[in-house]
Amino acid sequence: MQTSRQNTEKRDNQSIDSTKQTTYQAVTQPKVTRSDRSFDAIADHFEKKVYGGLKGEIRLAVLRRDIFEYSAQMSKSLGRPLRILDVGAGLAQIAIELAAQGHSVVINDISVNMLEKAKASAALIDEDLDITWYVCPYQALADKLIEDNLTKDHEQKSTDNAVKASAKFDLIMSHALLEWLAEPAMVMDFFDRQLADHGALSLCFYNPASFDYRNLIMGNFNLLDNTGYQADNKKSLTPNHPVAKEEVESWLAAHHYHIVRTSGLRVFHDYAPLKRGGHNDPDAVIRMELRYSQQEPYKWLGRYLHIMATRQADSL
Ligand SMILES: C[S@@+](CC[C@H](N)C(=O)[O-])C[C@H]1O[C@@H](n2cnc3c(N)ncnc32)[C@H](O)[C@@H]1O
Repeated sequence: MQTSRQNTEKRDNQSIDSTKQTTYQAVTQPKVTRSDRSFDAIADHFEKKVYGGLKGEIRLAVLRRDIFEYSAQMSKSLGRPLRILDVGAGLAQIAIELAAQGHSVVINDISVNMLEKAKASAALIDEDLDITWYVCPYQALADKLIEDNLTKDHEQKSTDNAVKASAKFDLIMSHALLEWLAEPAMVMDFFDRQLADHGALSLCFYNPASFDYRNLIMGNFNLLDNTGYQADNKKSLTPNHPVAKEEVESWLAAHHYHIVRTSGLRVFHDYAPLKRGGHNDPDAVIRMELRYSQQEPYKWLGRYLHIMATRQADSL
């Protein structure tokens, strides 16, 4: 029997575009060193492919429901707006909406092009949203937050802003980032340092089981059998290094998090080659995706999984 690690490693050498088969190249050269993947060169492509249609609408609908319900409750019980961080934020739609709801939001991405797009959409909503932008790898963010805190402290001597900059976050969002990191497990240490004791983590990541299941349905058995192929990943938005659900769960347990909510994103939409019946009605698809996103066993087949977790057993 194969372990999830073996499965993950097998998948390291495989990939497929979610809607059409991509060009595969035999791996002839030794494995290159992995590095975090900036989306700078594919910002336009990402915006169009992921958020230009129903796929993106489903993703946002499930995340909005999960996160906004939780953040509203947390804000009510704390009696104040939340301090929220989005790492690897990309177009940052959810973070911008949270800022529009009155929360104080820090948005980070390694890619300047992605954050330029996010800034443009934030400006369309309101010029005065409480958003601070950081273009840097998340690994450099802690130092930048401290630097800004010291500057503000010096300039304004213990004003609200200085207090805000030093505070930990009530909610940290990391959506579709894990699978693009060279050392994904390391991000857990960052969360530990930046999350308030009562805080919540919103972790959304590509689900490698969806790769297997879609290829079973599409009859791409060669991809499931053969470990010697790798997608031409210059433009592909299917990650070559996804992390299995079991592995993420083991990290969360090791870091003493309690899972409070899990959902699947796109639990059936991507598996339907034939768009018939309700599939022709986008609103109906979103309604069904929302319904089944929280139901066993369907949610575990989602293209992405969303886990909300906290370090306090009795929180909310
Ligand atoms: C698949 S996109 C996800 C964007 C957004 N969170 C979403 O769910 O739509 C991954 C993002 O992670 C960013 N990224 C990759 N490595 C990073 C790092 N070390 N620190 C911060 N951002 C990073 C990429 O530039 C890209 O914008």
